[in-house]
Amino acid sequence: MKLLEKIKSGKAIVGIAGLGYVGLPLACEFAESGFHVIGVDICSEKVRQLNSGKSYVLDVPSERIARLLKSKKISFSDDYSAMSSADCISIAVPTPLRKSKDPDVSYIVSAMDEVKKILHKNLLIVLESTTYPGTTKELIANEVELAGFTVGKDVFVAFSPERVDPGNPEYHTKNTPKVIGGCTASCTEAAFRLYSAVIDCVIKVDSTEEAEMVKLLENTFRAVNIALVNEMALMCDRMGMNIWNVIDAAATKPFGFMTFYPGPGIGGHCIPLDPSYLSWKAKMFDFYNRFIELATDINGNMPRFVLQKITRILNIHKKPLNGSRVLLTGVAYKPDIDDLRESPALEVYRLLSEEGAEVYFYDPFVKSFAIGDQTVKGVKMTPAGLKKYDLVVITTKHTRGVDYGMILEHAGLIFDTRNAYQGVRCDKIHNL
Ligand SMILES: NC(=O)c1ccc[n+]([C@@H]2O[C@H](COP(=O)([O-])OP(=O)(O)OC[C@H]3O[C@@H](n4cnc5c(N)ncnc54)[C@H](O)[C@@H]3O)[C@@H](O)[C@H]2O)c1
Repeated sequence: MKLLEKIKSGKAIVGIAGLGYVGLPLACEFAESGFHVIGVDICSEKVRQLNSGKSYVLDVPSERIARLLKSKKISFSDDYSAMSSADCISIAVPTPLRKSKDPDVSYIVSAMDEVKKILHKNLLIVLESTTYPGTTKELIANEVELAGFTVGKDVFVAFSPERVDPGNPEYHTKNTPKVIGGCTASCTEAAFRLYSAVIDCVIKVDSTEEAEMVKLLENTFRAVNIALVNEMALMCDRMGMNIWNVIDAAATKPFGFMTFYPGPGIGGHCIPLDPSYLSWKAKMFDFYNRFIELATDINGNMPRFVLQKITRILNIHKKPLNGSRVLLTGVAYKPDIDDLRESPALEVYRLLSEEGAEVYFYDPFVKSFAIGDQTVKGVKMTPAGLKKYDLVVITTKHTRGVDYGMILEHAGLIFDTRNAYQGVRCDKIHNL
């Protein structure tokens, strides 16, 4: 097959559509493995930054982009015609939910509308965006066939779920095993060969649907287990127990137990959204995912529990929430990153403000965020400043650059939702 030869010789041109947290590291990986890469994003500002050698993704240093630009192994454009010569195109565009919590696959549709204009024989298209089982066939393969090409013969179509974990210092694109499922055996083979050239371990499954389902199983597994431990936290709170001590002790069992931790809710572009993609599709088969609905309900209500608990903590100290000064420490959805998508800390901020609290935030990775039409700027953390808050809430765990010792020494009252003060017993610390 002509395409396989090109991949094998490293002469295949790789196009990446969508240069975000997933697409940009992937583009760099392909370019560093010797492929010529053309990255396309509809956001002209992002493309402008990349072309001037600047990265906006924390895990991709600007020097990496500058080096690849200099070597002419990579180029960026906001116009799909720039990748008309591509032999392989990976699509990594957003897959959010609509307000109604139904999947919004419009980004995949519009990416494919553009790819259709540059379709040609011997092209491999791989969808990377997390989505419901059936998407690759419905939105990619069908379109290819409607354009007059035969899938598996002229054009090769596959799905490969992205597992990138932003901020993870150990696992990145290259050393995270990658699952591949094609529409036909030849589609799987083509995608397998391409990804094997850049990823250490590639696993084949039997179909695009199976590959789509793999990602949904992984993320539903996390969402459900986090919900279980969140419910345990609510129960321990009611029964006057410390959930963290319970988890730590349970984790000493060397088999059959896996630790998950409670918190003020779940965030990011994956765990809060992906299970809903699955339950939405399952309903078409008259199947109702009770675990998913329950997990969505429990996890989604955690910010309200945090609000309730803050009110109780302040009450113990004879302070009304209305007018209290509250500092949130960490607003990104997890430590050491700047990603605010679906972050529960933003919901906690909103709920506290609604109740009349004066809310501030500190996060070394986030300068500001928008809430409605308001821009909220982060504050500095100083010993004198800390004394002025009625309550400091630890909303993300062990973020680099946060001086937890300083908070412990100078804050009057702390609500630790992430067990940042593991094992520290002290009257001023309240736990989830
Ligand atoms: N962020 C993660 O940790 C992560 C992990 C695994 C999987 N995923 C999945 O990967 C997909 C992408 O996520 P992300 O975090 O990279 O999103 P992102 O928002 O960081 O990046 C997506 C990029 O696509 C661009 N875009 C939108 N429409 C486009 C179009 N029609 N053509 C070209 N570019 C377009 C946007 O401008 C943006 O730069 C999602 O389906 C997500 O669920 C994300």
